[in-house]
Amino acid sequence: MNKVITIVLLSVFAIWAIGVNWTTIMGAPYVPTSLRRVKKMLTMTGACEDDIIYDLGSGDGRVVIMAAKKFNVKKAVGVEIDPVRILISKLYVLLFGVRGTVKIKAHNFFTMDLSDATIVTCFTLPETNEELFVKLNKELKPGSKVVANRFTFPHWTLIDEDNGIYMYRVMDFHNKDGL
Ligand SMILES: C[S@@+](CC[C@H](N)C(=O)[O-])C[C@H]1O[C@@H](n2cnc3c(N)ncnc32)[C@H](O)[C@@H]1O
Repeated sequence: MNKVITIVLLSVFAIWAIGVNWTTIMGAPYVPTSLRRVKKMLTMTGACEDDIIYDLGSGDGRVVIMAAKKFNVKKAVGVEIDPVRILISKLYVLLFGVRGTVKIKAHNFFTMDLSDATIVTCFTLPETNEELFVKLNKELKPGSKVVANRFTFPHWTLIDEDNGIYMYRVMDFHNKDGL
């Protein structure tokens, strides 16, 4: 009996460890942002009914759902690769009644077309931000805002910062380091 319990526990741990490492390799592990912090991030952007927001690595959908419910954005797209998070966030979208505004895309954010975004949010690792920098710089329209939780985009000019939330604007991206 003890052997069975040990095997079950080891299997659960292995599945958990693989899950964590898999998304970390792809761009970031799953670590949810507190709802208070999500509100702060969205408030910093001044998100409103004209905005189209993308959350890169949307987890359980909390950023895009709050953007729709509390900030009345035109469209909110969560981009996520983890099937468990995708399922959970789709359920939340139904539960919160925001199906018309919020779309959850089962997609790798590195290959997602982001050209209609006016706001991009992310909570991704420093090395991921290095790669995202190139993509966002290429795809986003001037004036679009990028809000990074915890980890910066060091090549871009910061326009606002609050307790580890960093905001950038696309038109500024070209001002620093000749980029
Ligand atoms: C730190 S969590 C942030 C979740 C959510 N945005 C929040 O703030 O609560 C990062 C999420 O990014 C997802 N992720 C990592 N790499 C990704 C990739 N290449 N494409 C899409 N999602 C990715 C992970 O599965 C994870 O759910």
